[in-house]
Amino acid sequence: MELSQRSKTNIDFENLFSLNTLTISTFPKYGSNPELINNMLRNDVLNDVSYKSGRVLGAMSTQPHFFAAKLYSEYMEKNLGDRGLNPGTAKIEAKLVQMMGSLLGASHTDAIKGNMTSGGTESNIIAIYLAKSLQPEISHPNIVLSEAAHYSFEKIARLMNIELRFAHLKDDFHPDMHEYQSLINDSTIALVGIAGTSALGLVDPTDKIAELARKYHKFLHIDGAFGGFVLPFLEKLGHQFPIYDFRSPYINTISVDPHKMGMNVNPSGIFLVKDGDDDNSKVKKENGFKIPYLAGGGFRTFNILGTRPGAPAISFWGLIHLLGFEGFLEIVQQAWDLTKYLEDQIQKLPQLSTVCSPETNVLGIQFSNENNIRSSKKIKKLNQILREHDWYLGFFENRGLLRFVSMPHVNQAHIDEFLNDLKRILYYHF
Ligand SMILES: Cc1ncc(COP(=O)(O)O)c(C=O)c1O
Repeated sequence: MELSQRSKTNIDFENLFSLNTLTISTFPKYGSNPELINNMLRNDVLNDVSYKSGRVLGAMSTQPHFFAAKLYSEYMEKNLGDRGLNPGTAKIEAKLVQMMGSLLGASHTDAIKGNMTSGGTESNIIAIYLAKSLQPEISHPNIVLSEAAHYSFEKIARLMNIELRFAHLKDDFHPDMHEYQSLINDSTIALVGIAGTSALGLVDPTDKIAELARKYHKFLHIDGAFGGFVLPFLEKLGHQFPIYDFRSPYINTISVDPHKMGMNVNPSGIFLVKDGDDDNSKVKKENGFKIPYLAGGGFRTFNILGTRPGAPAISFWGLIHLLGFEGFLEIVQQAWDLTKYLEDQIQKLPQLSTVCSPETNVLGIQFSNENNIRSSKKIKKLNQILREHDWYLGFFENRGLLRFVSMPHVNQAHIDEFLNDLKRILYYHF
């Protein structure tokens, strides 16, 4: 849906699902004709913002690659929850896991296991579930992580009754590693490192965290939901990061999301675990949930979902073969170049500044020379006005920043148009 076709309603994003915003719909007694149904649908989705419009500048998701979308629509009936009926799709999933393991530093001799998930949230849940169930003797478990961690860890804490021990961020927005270390105790079941934080796309000192995992014999999970499919390409382009993947012997699990920079369809995450040999196999020790009733049944799974789509595994496997490493490298290169371009332009505006130098294709934007409270208020107002002008950035109220993410659907013309509007808005409203 193009911008011009969308009505300019002010959507109440915070209360989108409160009951009073829903119109009551009754179950139709008789069927209708497809054209009429399509018209009704169009009417309803009119207010959705499409990636194609170029107005979505702050999401970590994007328009799926056409080839992934094509494969997805061809294989929609596949259900990876029933592997017995879909051994072919299960094999593709297994190959995908190996390919992603090799992208993320695993060697030929490493036993990489894992599965497709519905995204970073589910992968993170599985990782911490695995860590917890490997240490049943710990009665009040905690995990240690940076304050910049994704809110999926709040879900984990509540679902599994796990204490979150947050290390504060320093002025450079990376966690204070002295504090991080001090939070580790006998009840710590896992350390978490973030490779590509949600707000700023920064990489935790994963090498130092790995060193702590070695020293204290702790399970180490890397949340690479965003960065896991960006950093390998940026490294190839010459950028340097602390080791964030299976090149480190102390990293046990990684989450990485094809539905973010991988341009795959929703929903698609990948959970990877580097396993030991048979005697030291983590996956074998805590062998997941047994599905007792399916046709090809009897197997075990770590997935939270029961029925789960197989088409995203097929479409991502296909897309990787279509583009290859070099194809994704070009996509990441463009995303990076545009991030640097916007950084440069924002720094020329007297009212705004960038929060820090970007490490990936994510840029934080804030008001210059303001204390936290005032900056938060102003950024809230700016976000509201930008939305009224149909620009959608990520809004982190508690950090007083707007998040720009240079996803593959964003091009230079979109950024220039955004900058023109932004300058006008700053002039008239601030
Ligand atoms: C670092 C990080 N981890 C996890 C997630 C959760 O991913 P999903 O929304 O696919 O569950 C996100 C989402 O943006 C993220 O940025």
